[in-house]
Amino acid sequence: MTEINKVKEKLKNTLSETDVMEMTRNFNDVRELMTYYQCAIMEVETKFRVLNERFKLSIERNPIDSITSRLKSLDSIVQKLERKKLPMTVEAIEQNLFDVAGIRIICSFVDDIYMLADCLVSQDDIKLVRVKDYIKNPKENGYRSLHLIVEVPIFLENGKRSVKVEVQLRTIAMEFWANLEHQLRYKKNLSLQLLRSTSRELSECARISAALDMRMQSVRDIINGK
Ligand code: GTP
Ligand code: MG
Repeated sequence: MTEINKVKEKLKNTLSETDVMEMTRNFNDVRELMTYYQCAIMEVETKFRVLNERFKLSIERNPIDSITSRLKSLDSIVQKLERKKLPMTVEAIEQNLFDVAGIRIICSFVDDIYMLADCLVSQDDIKLVRVKDYIKNPKENGYRSLHLIVEVPIFLENGKRSVKVEVQLRTIAMEFWANLEHQLRYKKNLSLQLLRSTSRELSECARISAALDMRMQSVRDIINGK
């Protein structure tokens, strides 16, 4: 079954016949839009790989531990549009969904996160659209990461296009924590009591892990003679 048919099948009870017809009409445009997002991921990923190579020379280590990226599935796009009561159109996606193209940069140290983010946004083809600094202002549950929404030009056979990309930068410890917290979020059969105590425990883990990030950075500074 094609992806559009899978989506239609899933949403047949929530979408009207007209919605489905409109969605099918827009599908080809959306599929083309998805290729733009994929290209934008490649552009931004390359920018980070270049920075990583450059810093290998100047600071004699790679600031980036790993890079992962993902294109939001059509299924999730449709669901998010539904939630926001928006139509399945290229315009609605471009103007309202900023996380279709997502890149995650994992660093060992917190200061490398800010250094890389500064380097990216100071590049003259990058437009910074939004910053959410959950490192300086962690979420209530303990979540920490630096989120940027940037706009990057991609060059096509017939011109150029600006595309939004969500960049999440976090340390290895923040990633470790976020993955575990994500699992808790999708755990359906926990009692309210266990859910509360586990959330409290996770929040404490986030605090300890943030302190560890700081201490490791201080040790690194001593080793580097700073
Ligand atoms: P979404 O509509 O969910 O994309 O959120 P938003 O537009 O309000 O953006 P925000 O920058 O707050 O979050 C974007 C993404 O960061 C989420 O989709 C998750 O991948 C991640 N994120 C944000 N908060 C949490 C959290 O508390 N725990 C975990 N594990 N991930 C989070
Ligand atoms: Mg998201």
